[in-house]
Amino acid sequence: MVRIVFRDEAGHTHEIDAEVGLSLMECAKTQGVDGIEAECGGSMVCGTCQVYIAEPWFSAIAPASAMEAEMTQYTRHPRPTSRLSCQIVVTGAMDGMEVGVPEAQR
Ligand code: FES
Repeated sequence: MVRIVFRDEAGHTHEIDAEVGLSLMECAKTQGVDGIEAECGGSMVCGTCQVYIAEPWFSAIAPASAMEAEMTQYTRHPRPTSRLSCQIVVTGAMDGMEVGVPEAQR
């Protein structure tokens, strides 16, 4: 398990214990993180699992595939640091990572 902190735009935080090997979205959903709706269940078609990942974490995790990068453009309020949490596999190197939750998804 690794500790990951979700932070909304008002500054409220929700810390979870994420299981290595699962997607970040699955971990967030099972632990009730507000704003991670994941309506498509991880099929990369809804964009409601969008998160913002700040540096240094953004550069440290595996980059988005071309398909994820394209889909991310159609999310609500995308940013250069947007990712789809259903496409991020939790690794041990993510311990302590902070993840932003878009206000539009809350
Ligand atoms: Fe739908 Fe990630 S859960 S795009």
